[in-house]
Amino acid sequence: MTIRAVVRGVGHYLPEKVVPNTWFAEQGIETSDEWIQGRTGIERRHFAAEGETTSDMAANAANAALKQAGLGASDIDALIVATSTADLTFPSAATMVQAKIGMESGFAFDVQAVCAGFVFALANANALIVSGQAKRVMVIGAETFSRIMDWEDRTTCVLFGDGAGALIIEASKGDGTNNDRGILATDLHSDGRHREILYVDGGVSTHSTGHLRMQGKEVFRHAVEKLAATAHASLDSIGLSGDDVDWMVPHQANLRIINSTAKKMGLDMDRVVITVQDHGNTSAASIPLALSTGVERGQIKRGDLLVTEAIGGGLAWGSVIIRW
Ligand code: UT7
Repeated sequence: MTIRAVVRGVGHYLPEKVVPNTWFAEQGIETSDEWIQGRTGIERRHFAAEGETTSDMAANAANAALKQAGLGASDIDALIVATSTADLTFPSAATMVQAKIGMESGFAFDVQAVCAGFVFALANANALIVSGQAKRVMVIGAETFSRIMDWEDRTTCVLFGDGAGALIIEASKGDGTNNDRGILATDLHSDGRHREILYVDGGVSTHSTGHLRMQGKEVFRHAVEKLAATAHASLDSIGLSGDDVDWMVPHQANLRIINSTAKKMGLDMDRVVITVQDHGNTSAASIPLALSTGVERGQIKRGDLLVTEAIGGGLAWGSVIIRW
């Protein structure tokens, strides 16, 4: 008998305000819908309303996942929020979400691995369940990257959006084979030597909130190499390959990166959940948003084998294999 962390529910929240690519030129930024779509696949993104915070969006996503699962907040014993844009320096966004959804027991904490945050949080949630420290874990990715954009920098400000997605996983008995539902493998990496290619130039112990800075081409180069490598590594670790995958649910940063990774995995694009056109890059929120959207669209079904993979600032990157 093997303890597996099995998906029990999923949900998401997107802020009301939808910003099309044409909005940027209207603000006097030297860019075009044609450039943004051609280079990234992004058509629009959502921006949080003034006063709407990461924990607000995360709580909405959490409530949607609870509803889908038919559970209440008291049924959750651990809550993890993956974010780089928490409301406050402390307390964690996770404890704020805990209060907002009415979860009065258990424990909550944030995970910070930027765009790879959800994959890191999910791998940690899996470890909590497999080790018996938690029975049912809410894993949320939530971000308000619109608050750390430099609106003078056209190379970054057109890329990101806001939103939140939540996944509930729970302990369940499996037979230890790849036919089990649940998380079957994880693969995590980071390499702090690459700080300069993707970072925020401010923070609590420096001076200000700061703005996102990215050497896009360099990050792109690492992404196309490292995403396929981690996806292959996690599949290899359980004796599977791209042929066994029903759905790739990648971090949604750039359609060209997604295409390249799918190709390296031997996957046709009709086996990839793509939301980048509607959400832009929502950092840690992008994978749970894509999982929830994929279920809503009728793409992801119970029993499907999924590979999720992401890379972001750090660099930090990784993948998780889930049988839905
Ligand atoms: O989520 C974390 C991980 N992040 C990523 O995975 C992002 C990875 N990087 C990328 O997605 C791409 O590198 C970008 C979309 C950021 C940029 O695409 P690119 O094909 O690498 O373009 P580039 O940076 O080489 O820029 C090409 C040209 C430049 O002009 P010149 O030097 O060729 O004259 C830029 O100045 O495009 C120009 N450019 C723009 N033009 C119009 C850059 N940004 C814009 C813009 N509108 N917004």
